[in-house]
Amino acid sequence: MISLENIHKTYRIGRERKVHALKGISETIHAGEFVAVVGPSGSGKSTFLAIAGLLERPTEGTVRFDGKDVTGLSDKERTRIRAEQCGFVFQFPSLIPTLNTLENVLLPKTLCRTYKKSDEEWGRNLLARVGLDDKLDNLPYQLSGGEQRRVALARALINKPDVIFADEPTGAVDEYNAIIIIELFKEWNAQGRTVIMVTHDMKLAAEAGRIIQLEQGRLKISI
Ligand SMILES: Nc1ncnc2c1ncn2[C@@H]1O[C@H](COP(=O)(O)OP(=O)(O)OP(=O)(O)O)[C@@H](O)[C@H]1O
Ligand SMILES: [Mg+2]
Repeated sequence: MISLENIHKTYRIGRERKVHALKGISETIHAGEFVAVVGPSGSGKSTFLAIAGLLERPTEGTVRFDGKDVTGLSDKERTRIRAEQCGFVFQFPSLIPTLNTLENVLLPKTLCRTYKKSDEEWGRNLLARVGLDDKLDNLPYQLSGGEQRRVALARALINKPDVIFADEPTGAVDEYNAIIIIELFKEWNAQGRTVIMVTHDMKLAAEAGRIIQLEQGRLKISI
């Protein structure tokens, strides 16, 4: 489903400095896999996820999505693939402060102008799953950090994505809520959808079907 071929990513900082965040990564993630991406801070996990999820372009190398080379597609085409097939849970929840819980969850739909009445039902359903059905009208500042993360999780699923990209989805979440999140991913995965999750927590990584370990921008192990 997603294949990365010899991916390099170099970030420039000012004129002089460069950071080689990824140094020649080749990896294929098949449809229906649940993959955990682990490694020390700064090893390139978020960069890997951003490139696989078509949020960033590699400096060198090829990204294929559903067999198609998407590296050189226009921003518009890449955005369309993301909107139709991908769901993202970022390292920080990034909710819109002026929208309430349900509106934040429905945002990907309203942005794509594909909003239907049944979407609202699905949004309410997802929020119930993450234990927030009594907080539909709250604005983000009226939610705890863990609750905001769960809103972001429901938002990632609103489009019924083929692939979920999750960056530390259980960071700053208590153990009970971490289990809710993982169970939701496992259920989603059991329906044949793909989950790619970055985590520091080896116990959570063990829940995935496969572990990709990065170290200093290189693939250390893929098991
Ligand atoms: N936009 C950017 N501009 C410059 N350097 C960046 C940028 N994003 C990441 N980096 C650098 O690239 C390297 C890899 O960063 P990345 O965020 O992928 O690591 P990570 O494994 O996700 O770390 P963490 O576990 O702390 O989230 C780091 O050295 C980081 O400082
Ligand atoms: Mg990161």
